Amino acid sequence: MRFAGKIVLVFGGNSGMGLAAAKSFAAEGAKVHITGRNRKTLDEAVAEIPGSRGYQADIADIATSEDVVQRIEAEDGRIDVVYINAGVGGFAPLSEITPEAWDHTHSINLKGCVFALQKAVRLMGKGGAAVVTGSIGAHASVPGNGVYAAAKGGLYAAMKVFAGELVGQGIRLNMVSPGPIDTPLLHRNPGMDEDAVEMLRQQMIKAVPMHRMGEAEEVAKAVLFLASEDASFITAANLFIDGGLLELR
Ligand SMILES: NC(=O)c1ccc[n+]([C@@H]2O[C@H](COP(=O)([O-])OP(=O)(O)OC[C@H]3O[C@@H](n4cnc5c(N)ncnc54)[C@H](OP(=O)(O)O)[C@@H]3O)[C@@H](O)[C@H]2O)c1
Repeated sequence: MRFAGKIVLVFGGNSGMGLAAAKSFAAEGAKVHITGRNRKTLDEAVAEIPGSRGYQADIADIATSEDVVQRIEAEDGRIDVVYINAGVGGFAPLSEITPEAWDHTHSINLKGCVFALQKAVRLMGKGGAAVVTGSIGAHASVPGNGVYAAAKGGLYAAMKVFAGELVGQGIRLNMVSPGPIDTPLLHRNPGMDEDAVEMLRQQMIKAVPMHRMGEAEEVAKAVLFLASEDASFITAANLFIDGGLLELR
């Protein structure tokens, strides 16, 4: 019960690793607030997580992040932990990338996440912890992954700067950088049918030294560690959760 009595906000908490983390925070005693775009999965998640609140909010629309934080302020008065996990994928080689696709990915994975952090931090104080989701994609040369890698790489760079700024306020900020994790994200790649998704899965399994994809719950465990007092001397860290993919290749 490391989070007993804590107020936790998860941006992108209605699917995949955000949902797994939200459930785990609640299981360890937290009151959990989650955001997401999809009303149906948001309602399902709230129904599954005792005492939780859900907010339909697009992280790219910065005013909605402020609105979420204001609603939490009115209800609970503070945030102890924020997990900023919302993100989208998508592949295109340099010759095919478009300004629209760049802006879409970066408005969510970079700009939206940074401003969500800014809004949440206003309600956080000494002992607070923030975790953001990066990706090994920011640290590896994967053909077709340039736009996504740039956004997650930007988030990594921003995380290190903001972690330094937040030290004075007693707030720790860390990043988890997953490798291939079996979540609904895999099925959300525009233009990829189920056969192509399965081919991608097999390629990833082959590439991972542990010869499998990770589970959302394995990422959630790392998130909870970084958000907990167990990580009280850890800030500005970037934890790879990738079955050894990045370091052992
Ligand atoms: N799966 C992997 O292999 C992998 C590897 C490395 C990094 N990541 C990163 O891990 C994070 C979680 O991904 P996942 O694999 O768990 O995928 P997922 O199941 O698709 O979950 C993505 C989450 O982000 C939310 N989200 C996306 N765009 C949003 C927006 N504009 N506003 C608010 N919420 C938004 C989704 O909500 P809705 O469903 O309502 O849109 C959902 O809750 C992402 O940042 C992703 O880039 C994933």
